[in-house]
Amino acid sequence: MFVDHLSLLDFRTYASLDLALERGLTVFVGPNGVGKTNVVEAIDWAANLSSHRVASDTPLIKTGSERAIVRVRIRRATQQTVLEFELNDRRANRVQINRAAPVRAREAVGVLHTVVFSPEDLTLVKGDPGHRRKFLDDLATSMRPVLAAARGDYERALKQRNALLKSARYSRQHSDSHQATLTVWNEQLARAGAAVMGARLQLLKALEPEVDRAYQQLTDGPKHVKLRYECSSLDPSADVAALEHFSVEDLYELMLQAFERVARQEQERGITLVGPHRDDMVISLGDTPAKGYASHGETWSTALALRLGSWYVHVADDPNEGAAPVLILDDVFAELDARRRQKLAQLVQQAEQVLVTAAVDEDLPAALRENPHRVVRVSPGQVEVTDSTTALEQVPGEQSPSEDLPAPQVDEERDLSAGERDATSSSVQDPRDQGEHG
Ligand SMILES: Nc1ncnc2c1ncn2[C@@H]1O[C@H](COP(=O)(O)OP(=O)(O)O)[C@@H](O)[C@H]1O
Ligand SMILES: [Mg+2]
Repeated sequence: MFVDHLSLLDFRTYASLDLALERGLTVFVGPNGVGKTNVVEAIDWAANLSSHRVASDTPLIKTGSERAIVRVRIRRATQQTVLEFELNDRRANRVQINRAAPVRAREAVGVLHTVVFSPEDLTLVKGDPGHRRKFLDDLATSMRPVLAAARGDYERALKQRNALLKSARYSRQHSDSHQATLTVWNEQLARAGAAVMGARLQLLKALEPEVDRAYQQLTDGPKHVKLRYECSSLDPSADVAALEHFSVEDLYELMLQAFERVARQEQERGITLVGPHRDDMVISLGDTPAKGYASHGETWSTALALRLGSWYVHVADDPNEGAAPVLILDDVFAELDARRRQKLAQLVQQAEQVLVTAAVDEDLPAALRENPHRVVRVSPGQVEVTDSTTALEQVPGEQSPSEDLPAPQVDEERDLSAGERDATSSSVQDPRDQGEHG
C-alpha cells in the first residue's frame, strides 16, 4: 500500500500542508529541527493512532491551536481509502473514513500499515519493558484491529481495579463487599488481559524467526536473536515453556490464579501486580540478554531487526498485492556504519513505498541514492521540491484542508501544474518555528 496524499492542518510545525506522494522512494532532506519527522510522524499516526515519539496527542497539535487535522489517502491495489482525523486537546478525537459519519477511533486502526525505523528504537532494546509492550501491542493490533478493544477494556479495568485496591488500602477495609467488587474486576481484567497476552504470544511465535532472519541479513553474524515472553502471571515455579501452548482460556485461568497468589501483596501495596501491563519481551543475542549486555552496534542491529522483522511479519500475514506496509526510515542512516546502511537500504527496497528523512544527502546509502527517488528539501520555513513530480506546498491562510482530496487522475494534473507553476519552494512553517536546532 502507499499514501498518495497527505494534508495537515495545525499539526506540529505545519499550519497547513498539502503533499502529494508517490510509490517508491521519497527522501525528505533538511537540517535538524525543520519539520522532516513531523511529516512522517503524521503518516505513522494515521496508521496506529499513536506517535512513535510521544505518548499523548497534545504535542502533535500546533502550539496555540486547539486541534490538528491529519488527512491521508491510502491506495491499496485498486482500493482507495481516505482517513481523516481531528486531534483534539480536550475532547475525543474525531475520525472519519471515506468522509462518512464519524466512527470510533479504533475503527481506523489497521487501514494503513506502517513500519517506522527511528533512533528511538534503541529503547526497544535498552529501555523499559513498556516500550517493548507497546511495540508488541501496536504490531499485533495493526494486523488484528479487534485487539484494540481488548486493550481499551484492559486499561479501563486496570484503572478501576487499582483504584479499588488503593482505596481499600487507605481505609484498611477488606470487607465482603470490597471482595465481591474485586472479584468482578478480577474477571474483567483477566478476560481482557488473556486476549492481550494471547495476541502477544501468537505474535512472538511469528516474530522471532523473522527478527532473527533480519538480524542475520544485517550482520551476517554468528549470533541468533531469541525473543521470550516474560509473564508476570506465571507462577515463578512453573515451566516457562508451557506458556507457548496456552489457549486464551488457559491464560484467563492463569491470571485468576495469579490474583489469588498475590492477593496479600496487592492489599499491602494497593496496586495490581500481575497481568500483561507487568510483562516483558526478553530479547537475547545467543544466550545473552541484549539489554545491559549488547554492544552499541549489536543494539542498533537488534533494533533494526525488530523493525525489519515486523515488516516481514506483516508481509507474511497478508501476502496480497498492495498489502505491504509503508516503510518509514526516520533519521536512521546517519547513525549506522557504512555496512549496515548499505544492507538496510537494500532490504527496504522491497516495499511499495519508502519514506526517508535525512539531514544531508550524504546520509543516504548509495544503494538508495542510485535508485530513482524524489527529494523533498525541507529547510526553515521552506520546502523545496527538487523533483517536479512531487509537490509540497503550503496554501497560505487556508483554514481547512482542501475541500476534496482530488481523484487520482486529477491529482497528476494538479501535481504537474504545481511543478510548472512554481519550480521550487513554498513556505510551510510558522515563522515562530524557524529557529536553529540541533
Ligand atoms: N506542537 C508543536 N507546535 C509547534 N512546533 C512544534 C510542535 N511540536 C514540535 N514542534 C517543533 O518542530 C521542530 C522539530 O521538528 P522535527 O520534524 O522533529 O524536525 P526534524 O526535521 O529534525 O525531523 C522543533 O523546532 C519543534 O519545536
Ligand atoms: Mg527528525
